[in-house]
Amino acid sequence: MATPTALGSASEPPRSLTGIKPTGMPHLGNYLGMIRPALEMTSSHQAFYFIADYHALTTLRSRDLVQKYTTEVTAAWLALGLDPAQTILFKQSDVPEVCELAWFLSCVTPLGLLKRAHAFKDAESKGAELNGGTFFYPVLMAADILAYDSHVVPVGKDQKQHVEMARDMAIAFNHYFGEVLRVPEPAIRPDVATIPGTDGRKMSKSYDNTIPLFLPTKKLRKAIMGIKTDSTPLEQPKDPNSCSVFELYKLFATAEQTEHLAARYRAGGLGYGHAKQELFEVMEAHFEGPRDRFLHHLAHPKTIDDILADGGQRAKSVAAATLSRVRTAVGM
Ligand code: ADP
Ligand code: TRP
Repeated sequence: MATPTALGSASEPPRSLTGIKPTGMPHLGNYLGMIRPALEMTSSHQAFYFIADYHALTTLRSRDLVQKYTTEVTAAWLALGLDPAQTILFKQSDVPEVCELAWFLSCVTPLGLLKRAHAFKDAESKGAELNGGTFFYPVLMAADILAYDSHVVPVGKDQKQHVEMARDMAIAFNHYFGEVLRVPEPAIRPDVATIPGTDGRKMSKSYDNTIPLFLPTKKLRKAIMGIKTDSTPLEQPKDPNSCSVFELYKLFATAEQTEHLAARYRAGGLGYGHAKQELFEVMEAHFEGPRDRFLHHLAHPKTIDDILADGGQRAKSVAAATLSRVRTAVGM
């Protein structure tokens, strides 16, 4: 039997990989929890960032929506600063090799591991429509991660368990077939682990409490003014650390601005309306440029298609090499 070829050379930068489903316009939780940390890693890592369109099909059944959201999510990455010359940006479905790898992984994955997945258990407990894809989801996600020999996976906290399952699958595969797959690590920023939505719960498309990225100025202001706060009267001191408005503010403001607003909370005399206005101002300044770039990219869909096609080819050649190692290792 031929020996599987070695994993990527030590002289190359480590690889970071992450994906986002095209199931809606990306929101502030996606940006702060995953997109911004992932973009920060692109200067020190060879980054593979993709649009998880296979995964989206567990809930989305519309050809038009899959295409619309794929374009929007790609335009969002570009508007927020992703440089496609440096980072491989692609569509998951342009690399069907991941489906083959998912099969190999599923054969070394105990059923109990899949049954323990939080996302699956949540969907089950909510009585949501369950399909085979929802159950198999973590295996395909593990294949995404392992196909590119990823070292780190920047994700929000809710995805940590899925990355740990990918580790378990890599370890199980290597146990049976030799050191073929790189065992990845999740990269979760503790300061942005879970971003609150407008109702104080985790911001999520499924709770309808999101602040979508690139809202026009007036709508952004309205969304921020709608963030739920407690009923402490204006004149009373307030605890900045138990307020969603402040939690978001400090992720956009400088250290000095943050300290200043915290002092105003504690002193009393600051209404939540004032704090929301401060948040609106830092966010508007932060997203003004990206919003213009987002609209520009949306108006040039051909460029988006070209970028994805080029990224898809580059990603595919990496995944094909991994698959060849895997096939050799299992005796095919
Ligand atoms: P949603 O829950 O809105 O469907 P996704 O599942 O598409 O969001 O999440 C895409 C990425 O954004 C994941 O890495 C996820 O962990 C991260 N993310 C989503 N919502 C939040 C949040 N509220 N706080 C931090 N990270 C988040
Ligand atoms: N499951 C992730 C989410 O819901 C999306 C995703 C698919 C992903 N494959 C991935 C994230 C691989 C990181 C790595 O957000």
